[in-house]
Amino acid sequence: MKGVILAGGLGKRLWPLTKITNKHLLPVFDKPMIYYPIECLVNAGIRDVLLVTGGNDAGDFLRLLGNGKEFGLKELHYTYQVGEGGIADALRLAEDFADGDKIVVVLGDNIIERDIRRGVANFYSQPRGARIFLKEVPDPERFGVAVLEDGRVTRIVEKPEVPESAYAVVGIYMYDEQVFDFISSLKPSARGELEITDVNNFYLEQGTLEYEILEGWWTDAGTFESLLKAANLTAGGGANHTRPMAAAVPAAV
Ligand code: G1P
Repeated sequence: MKGVILAGGLGKRLWPLTKITNKHLLPVFDKPMIYYPIECLVNAGIRDVLLVTGGNDAGDFLRLLGNGKEFGLKELHYTYQVGEGGIADALRLAEDFADGDKIVVVLGDNIIERDIRRGVANFYSQPRGARIFLKEVPDPERFGVAVLEDGRVTRIVEKPEVPESAYAVVGIYMYDEQVFDFISSLKPSARGELEITDVNNFYLEQGTLEYEILEGWWTDAGTFESLLKAANLTAGGGANHTRPMAAAVPAAV
């Protein structure tokens, strides 16, 4: 399986922090935000990764991450999203890279405490379709919200004013090769974007959407409040990430 990290967008909710730099280059405690999704994929055993970036300072990702060796990646590929067409629009750029393989997609501003190994293994043995991660949260209206009946997801609603459940859809998605056909039939939402929630609903209608409940804490980092929360959670020592840079730092520092 291959990994795709979506790290484009203009980060408008973090203005002026993102006035001259990309949101995913901002610090979250002791590391740039982009390190966390890379480590999430590496910890799940994925070694072949595409980074989709866009907006400001895209070239800085190359300066920061190089060929990804420091993270234990076999290959780190890059591509560039022009404009802000939404998450599904950015994902479209991964079609050639995926080349028919299953993919694990991580939003660049999503940070998790533990790892997604079990989910990835389950998706590996899932014959077809998609697999998402759900997490109970106190503020589901900020996210895609999954409605569950008898243990099955019956629908997913993007940022509902009145959420029908407390299960947010985490920004980590696993898809088979059909995802690109689904994206090409999407229409922009009211906010003018191709929504990843619509992609997930396609799989749901097809009856091939499975889910995992994510263990450990999860946060996004795309608003001032969540960026601060992400820093506090990672500083709290909970993040069970490999720290590829640690070896390079002299012990006395
Ligand atoms: C996006 C998705 C949403 C998902 C969230 C996770 O929202 O649209 O469904 O729950 O990421 O972080 P965004 O906050 O990027 O608008």
